[in-house]
Amino acid sequence: MDIPEPVSVPERERSRWVELVTVIDEARDRYYGADRPTLSDAEYDELFQELLEIERRFPELVTADSPTQLVGGARSGMFEPVQHQQQMLSLDDVFDLDELGRWLDRLARELGEVPALLCELKVDGLAVDLVYRSGELVSMATRGDGRVGEDVTFNAQYLASVPRRLTESEAPAPQLLEVRGEMFFDNAEFASLNDEMLDLGRSPFANARNAGAGTLRQRIDRRVEDLRSAERDLAGLGKAGRGADRARGHVDRLRSELDHAIRRIGRMRFTVHGIGSTEGWHPDLQSQAYGCLERWGLPVASTNEVVGSRTDVVEFISRQGERRFDFDHEIDGVVIKVDDVGLQRRLGQTSRTPRWAVAYKYPPEVVRTRLLDIRVNVGRTGRVTPFAVMEPVRVAGSTVSMATLHNAHEVTRKGVLIGDMVFLRKAGDVIPEVIGPVVEERDGSQRPFVMPDRCPECGSILAPEKSDDVDLRCPNSRLCPAQIRERLFHVGSRGALDIAGLGWKAAVALMECGLVDDEGDLFSLTSEALATCDFFTKEKPGDGRGLAANAEALLSQLARAKTKALWRILVALSIRHVGPTAARSLATRFGSLDAISSADVAELAACDGVGPVIAEAIVDWFTTDWRMAIVEKWRACGVRMAEDAADSLPHTLAGLTIVVTGSLAGFSRNQAEEAIAARGGKAASSVSSKTDYVVAGENPGSKQAKALALSVSVLGEDGFRALLDSGPPARDSAPTGEQGDS
Ligand code: IVH
Repeated sequence: MDIPEPVSVPERERSRWVELVTVIDEARDRYYGADRPTLSDAEYDELFQELLEIERRFPELVTADSPTQLVGGARSGMFEPVQHQQQMLSLDDVFDLDELGRWLDRLARELGEVPALLCELKVDGLAVDLVYRSGELVSMATRGDGRVGEDVTFNAQYLASVPRRLTESEAPAPQLLEVRGEMFFDNAEFASLNDEMLDLGRSPFANARNAGAGTLRQRIDRRVEDLRSAERDLAGLGKAGRGADRARGHVDRLRSELDHAIRRIGRMRFTVHGIGSTEGWHPDLQSQAYGCLERWGLPVASTNEVVGSRTDVVEFISRQGERRFDFDHEIDGVVIKVDDVGLQRRLGQTSRTPRWAVAYKYPPEVVRTRLLDIRVNVGRTGRVTPFAVMEPVRVAGSTVSMATLHNAHEVTRKGVLIGDMVFLRKAGDVIPEVIGPVVEERDGSQRPFVMPDRCPECGSILAPEKSDDVDLRCPNSRLCPAQIRERLFHVGSRGALDIAGLGWKAAVALMECGLVDDEGDLFSLTSEALATCDFFTKEKPGDGRGLAANAEALLSQLARAKTKALWRILVALSIRHVGPTAARSLATRFGSLDAISSADVAELAACDGVGPVIAEAIVDWFTTDWRMAIVEKWRACGVRMAEDAADSLPHTLAGLTIVVTGSLAGFSRNQAEEAIAARGGKAASSVSSKTDYVVAGENPGSKQAKALALSVSVLGEDGFRALLDSGPPARDSAPTGEQGDS
């Protein structure tokens, strides 16, 4: 960094400038390079604004390498550089209506009036540049410094939302089409990705944008090469011997890591928000251009409006602001653009931003509250997780008093002390997250958190499972009351046996009254036993159903639960990593718990959605005596241990891959996927050329566009019901286009 020579700049401003540039540069390096931020977005914005303000007052401070003169981030050197056809710009931000008013004044001054404005959501993701030549995708790149980005074209093949070939429509695809857009994780995928990261013993991503950067910038090509070369080595070694075993293990691990990387990237979404260079197509209006792009199969955000006056802009901002937390992905503002491309050209740009567009940022939903304590929770598989207990505070639409801190490293990284005033927000506007301390408010009474070295419930010595794991675990899976309580609660949870009467309080009561040693005893509970425990006999306030209603309800629900689908029983067993997806696939493939328990790692790992890590966890589980004792107790009580041929539906969807998107009136996502799986079909999450049907409900988003681009049949809810009832139409006789009803 060049420190400018002071001319008339007061010392205070000059040193603050140096300080700001240093902090911002570091934050940018971390953000774009290492993918773990040092500052929250709100803090970054605030410092960046302060820097802009100092430079506005003292222009002599501005150097070519000031962060205000650069766009986006530096490149990490991991990927080949690629020059964008046209510079990718960033946006100037405004933070209130006064600032926006001044921007509109400037427009009106230059153009004589406020022109038609295209208002859109500002999606909080990662900017990418796509180049299509004669309709074929030839390049995908990150933004980099705006002129040169990173070549991530290889990864495009795994992104369902990025068409590799544009759809022919009445307007043929132009010779050259460069589009820009945002790659992002929606809230649900972000949350499930972070769950997986934790399951794999890795640190979670701080926010959806970082998760996006880390995911898109994976060297999947190298992983593919590594796998191929390991497979070649294995082939050269023959089948037997220790060397071959090791090589096979290595191949399995590489394959599972590659699968994971591909699945992860396939869950990202994309939305187009700009056009770069084009040849053979020169739209007059950006809004009009979106229409063409959509017809060519590119996903364009549905929430955009062309408005004609200042009041309309303000109205758009406030309307979207009100539902800001209702979108299924994070938005951090609204982008306002001059719609007329000719006027855009006339207005021009500065070195990093257009003069014809601006971002209105909603006030950051970062709040402050007191961190009262840091406690630890012992999970159902023994993972010990510190969590923050805070003074209740309202943030992004709900009241929050607890937030996970994931592991001891995270507590250290965040630098929070017990008693601190802390900044709090919701990551993905959903999951409460402590950002860090308000250091200025410390008064010396704060104290550091010390991660316990023994389990707070059973006193066992905590240890990581593998030497490089960040998580500590309580090894006493069999007897630790915390783990048993969590497992009991899990048996009743919606993704497992869905037993309404077996909630958290019931799980606690069953243990406190000594009615169960562990989940093995659940199905032999009797009304006499439950009658000895207050929780199950006392009337709940306002519950006039009388004595023992709780007990009877629980017993009848347990009786019903015994006959639920095999995959649910499998989930209820709390085998590490075995959630509904893996369980469904195991149940379909093996048909019975006995077959699963006697399968070896290779057989299990060959099952869809089950890699070697899950396979090993399953084998481990079934070779533990006390766990097998649980299975035997359940079996003795008549819990279903096999897919029942009599109640299983005919496999009319066997061999079909079906993606459900948007919301359906008559099915939850889970129910729709279950209905597909029960008929032998595969419910997938991303659309590809291998997809047979896309079922599109309300707000289907980019998956529907992708389906249309790939000529995959799209069904509405009625079409989906017909498919479930009677299977697909016979392939030979179905005239094209008749399968879809939307
Ligand atoms: S237009 C020349 N529209 O926000 C115009 N950008 O903070 C450049 N972004 O670099 C971008 N949603 O990556 C535009 N609807 C939207 C956007 C959007 C998100 C991103 C984009 C841009 C960044 C600036």
